Amino acid sequence: MDVLSRQAIVGRLDTRRLAHKVLFFDEIDSTNTLAVKLAQEGAAEGLLVIADSQRSGRGRLDRTWHAPAGSSLLFSLLLRPPLLLGQAQRATMLCALAAVRAIRDVARVQARVKWPNDLVVDGKKLGGVLTEIRPRGQQLDYAVVGMGINVNLDLTELPQVMSPPTSLLAERGEPVSRLDLLTRLLQEVDALYDEMLAGWSPHAAWREHLDTIGKSVAVGTREEVIRGVAESVDENGALLVRDEDGVLHTILVGDVTLRGHRT
Ligand code: BTN
Repeated sequence: MDVLSRQAIVGRLDTRRLAHKVLFFDEIDSTNTLAVKLAQEGAAEGLLVIADSQRSGRGRLDRTWHAPAGSSLLFSLLLRPPLLLGQAQRATMLCALAAVRAIRDVARVQARVKWPNDLVVDGKKLGGVLTEIRPRGQQLDYAVVGMGINVNLDLTELPQVMSPPTSLLAERGEPVSRLDLLTRLLQEVDALYDEMLAGWSPHAAWREHLDTIGKSVAVGTREEVIRGVAESVDENGALLVRDEDGVLHTILVGDVTLRGHRT
């Protein structure tokens, strides 16, 4: 049994800048909800809120995030990067990139990013990132980056959902230590975050792992569905889709379906 505890986490973490304060819960409503509350109350950058299970885990676009107890990595990290509001997506890119690298190193599974921030293996959903931000003028006050990764998840335990799910257990055929994965992932975030503070953007490295470019897509935004070919992503993480009339759409928030496939 892969037991997570505050003691085990703190004993293993070797980050320099982030995760010096760790709040661990066997059960919580949502790690993001608590991290956002503490961010608004002035908590310092680097706070890690992590739980073994969530009663009301939240996904993007008001969806529910399901994860049976003991099966997943469920955590939220509070960042206060000196970024302009328009650059906020960099915090998410950085964490998604760190997750792809950590998953490769620890589980030997090659995950990719489905725009904007799903982690997928062969089109099946392995995890996702939910980033919640607050502006201060033109700057970012905070970004709470919440991550859910299906680690030792028995797929039959999940309710029927639209995107076919997967887990590291399902991909590898054997369990993966959540502690090893968490430690590696936070190490990677820590190192990349230092680079970002020194002026580096995660955009190019993140783009290399994107699964969506060059594909025929339908992107649901809050207003409409845009159909076309995903040509690229811009520096701020927006997806550039050329529709059938040749018009280029710049989409910041949306949900991608590959045409001809349900993903
Ligand atoms: C998505 O794919 O829609 C994003 C899912 C994000 C889920 C994680 S689990 C930890 C953190 N707390 C939450 O309530 N949500 C995020």
